[in-house]
Amino acid sequence: MSAVQSSTGILAEDARQEREQIVGMLTKAYWMEIETVMSYLANSVNPDGVRAQEVVASLREDIQEELGHATQFANRIKELYGIVPGSMNFQAEQSYLQPPARQTDIVHVIKGVIEAESGAIDYYNEIIQATEGSDPVTNDMVISILHDEEGHRRLFEGFLREYPEQS
Ligand SMILES: [Fe+2]
Repeated sequence: MSAVQSSTGILAEDARQEREQIVGMLTKAYWMEIETVMSYLANSVNPDGVRAQEVVASLREDIQEELGHATQFANRIKELYGIVPGSMNFQAEQSYLQPPARQTDIVHVIKGVIEAESGAIDYYNEIIQATEGSDPVTNDMVISILHDEEGHRRLFEGFLREYPEQS
């Protein structure tokens, strides 16, 4: 990390250790968003069938929103004197959002999205706790992103209700 000019708050020299810890969390969040973009893109194109169309249209919009989140995480990493990682550091984790065996199986996609959003919600709550009091800017940013993820999950929980055997 480069030399720091400011002497107060999370950018202070003596906050280096805490800053590096937050950069680590932001880096994980960045990868989660990037993988979500990949998964939502594939799942916004693959599904077949009339009932899939609402889900597909919603995912198409979410791709842009998740890309926006990834961009926010990347910018905050830089502001905290970290380095946004290159693609060789990427490790996939969203096994539950792989294409289903049948492309009309939209319940598989809905459940996968709910799982991805739930993972993000859990992790962003952790970041919010870790930055409470020490890094108000990251804290505020992640609260706003958490709000988006909670909204997504609620929307997809509603989609799942169309399939009575699932809820
Ligand atoms: Fe997101």
